[in-house]
Amino acid sequence: MGRVQDKVVFITGAARGQGRAHAVRLAEEGADIIAVDLCAGMDSVAYPMATRADLDETVRQVEKLGRRIVAAAADVRDLAALRAAVDDGVRELGRLDAVVAQAGIAPLGRPEASAFIDAITVNFHGVVHAVEAALPHLPDGGSVVATGSTAALMQSADMTTRPDFGKLGYSFSKRTVASFVNDLAVALAPRRIRANAVHPTNTNTDMLNSAPMYREFRPDLDEPSREDALPAFHVMTAMGLPYVEPEDIAAAVLFLVSDESRYVTGQQLRVDAGAIVQRRAQQPQF
Ligand SMILES: NC(=O)c1ccc[n+]([C@@H]2O[C@H](COP(=O)([O-])OP(=O)(O)OC[C@H]3O[C@@H](n4cnc5c(N)ncnc54)[C@H](O)[C@@H]3O)[C@@H](O)[C@H]2O)c1
Repeated sequence: MGRVQDKVVFITGAARGQGRAHAVRLAEEGADIIAVDLCAGMDSVAYPMATRADLDETVRQVEKLGRRIVAAAADVRDLAALRAAVDDGVRELGRLDAVVAQAGIAPLGRPEASAFIDAITVNFHGVVHAVEAALPHLPDGGSVVATGSTAALMQSADMTTRPDFGKLGYSFSKRTVASFVNDLAVALAPRRIRANAVHPTNTNTDMLNSAPMYREFRPDLDEPSREDALPAFHVMTAMGLPYVEPEDIAAAVLFLVSDESRYVTGQQLRVDAGAIVQRRAQQPQF
């Protein structure tokens, strides 16, 4: 028996990166998956987004583990499209036990206000839409997991050096995800549905390994490379790591989807190699 044997889990942003890692780890432990991804670019995002071929690769990896997966191209900003994807998946797989709302963009380095809106509509509205599409199917005791970021637990982005509406939007959207999950945990507790946020530090995915992120960590250089940025990545963590791996985040998501965490709710679970604790006062904050 796997740790999530025969559960069905809906994952947004599942074509690559953390979303794919969650799909594969959950499938290894016996889950079937409903997967969506945009599979297209966005104007405010200056790094390549996932493709349909990436989503197909997630399908291949889950099926290789002997589990079922229903995958669709869908935009988390489009509630009707998400509802259709979840309803199709439930029809095919028979049930839904959990949602992992984690599709996201980091439109860093953008001076235009529309980048702020894009960050919020994908990173925050997208989470709310995923929960709304999933809730009618979730049984008592189900699980909601949303991905924030350590950015959710820090002060808002510094705008004094240069205007960066994308970065401000990223920070705002992630803080809002944390707040939403907090309140959702209270609202869903009578049905014993848990709602928890996972907050990763730098994670080794295409979002981190991107030109806008290199510029974020090396503002002193015009066109910094990954090699230029790598030593600067370390400032984020207390453990001296440049990043954690998607599988490290998947381990936390697996726990929160499984019944092992049946009474764990309203948590802001950091998987951050000490990123936040090193920035906080000594007294624990609750
Ligand atoms: N990589 C990091 O350093 C890091 C750190 C903290 C938090 N996060 C968060 O982790 C989550 C996963 O990101 P990742 O690191 O795997 O990056 P990623 O870019 O590899 O994956 C994000 C996925 O979301 C999909 N997506 C984007 N917009 C979408 C939309 N409108 N509709 C549907 N799908 C959409 C992308 O196509 C992509 O497959 C994001 O919420 C991100 O903000 C990442």
